[in-house]
Amino acid sequence: MTLDEFLLACQRLADDAPARIAVAASPSEFAEVRTQLVGRKQGRLADLMAQLAALPPEARRDAGRAVNEVKSRIEALLDEREALVAAAARGAAAQDLTMPARRRWRGSLHPVTLVIDEIAEIFRELGFTIALGPEAETEFYNFTSLNFPADHPAMELHDTLYLGDDTLLRTHTSPVQVRTLQQYAPPVRILAPGNVYRRDFFDATHAPSFMQLEGLAVDEGISFVDLKATLSEFARRFYGGTRRVRFGPSYFPFVEPGAQMDVEVDLGDGKGTRWVEILGCGMVHPNVLEAAGLDSERYTGWAFGMGPARIAMSRHGIPDIRILYDSDVRFLEQFAR
Ligand code: PHE
Repeated sequence: MTLDEFLLACQRLADDAPARIAVAASPSEFAEVRTQLVGRKQGRLADLMAQLAALPPEARRDAGRAVNEVKSRIEALLDEREALVAAAARGAAAQDLTMPARRRWRGSLHPVTLVIDEIAEIFRELGFTIALGPEAETEFYNFTSLNFPADHPAMELHDTLYLGDDTLLRTHTSPVQVRTLQQYAPPVRILAPGNVYRRDFFDATHAPSFMQLEGLAVDEGISFVDLKATLSEFARRFYGGTRRVRFGPSYFPFVEPGAQMDVEVDLGDGKGTRWVEILGCGMVHPNVLEAAGLDSERYTGWAFGMGPARIAMSRHGIPDIRILYDSDVRFLEQFAR
């Protein structure tokens, strides 16, 4: 090869390099073009370098200068293009609107908590406030003040979890009735949610610890009409205006008369509607008012107690109460809103 031929080859490389470089659109295309042009072993520049060594000694200075010039021009173009291609690749990734969004973790309140909140909201509109009491109770508040006779079977070990001679885990939220009446003068209208404990086996319909929701209204002149009207209104608001409710007799030592309220529900199992008991209620027994230090000739009241887990189960068609205790996120996240 002559010097002229060598300089021509340099010129040709300098001429087509810009177009080759300009069409490299992605980082991988760019890497390929770079190898073809300035790769150390078989690139076009490497070929020129090999030919340079074969030129006559007096031609090498001019040839060397020419090839170095082409090299630095191509490298400058490559550097410029590389920056553009990399930026475009980053931008394309950031702007890919078809890329699925990363799923956000959504926390949720427990279905039983949601039921309690919803019921509390309805009773708040009806003038009730929230009251709380301890889960570790005395026999007095859990039983005696609530007019349980001394030999009542619920006081036996098989139903109640005792912590000591006189202390126990409350078996219901009714002790909050007496504690509230001792602390606040009537008119009293409270809702008391909380955990209660019983020596029960953990099966599909029982749990040794569960939530209860107690209600209490005490004032002068309160009658069974107030109980029926308030609880019916609650059911209308909670279940919808057309829902039928019915009251039937029931027994609890701390109410007289005692009743239960049933709601007509469709559990969605194809068996149609049926009556489901949702709460126990009644007029507060005079002995309970007296135990709390109130004059039972002057004051009367009514109370109810319900299990929000049962309500959540009937509402969502949950067949087994244990699901509510499993903390299985696949179940719980359905209630996220
Ligand atoms: N405490 C009762 C129970 O545990 C429910 C109840 C509360 C009944 C208030 C009447 C009035 O089942």
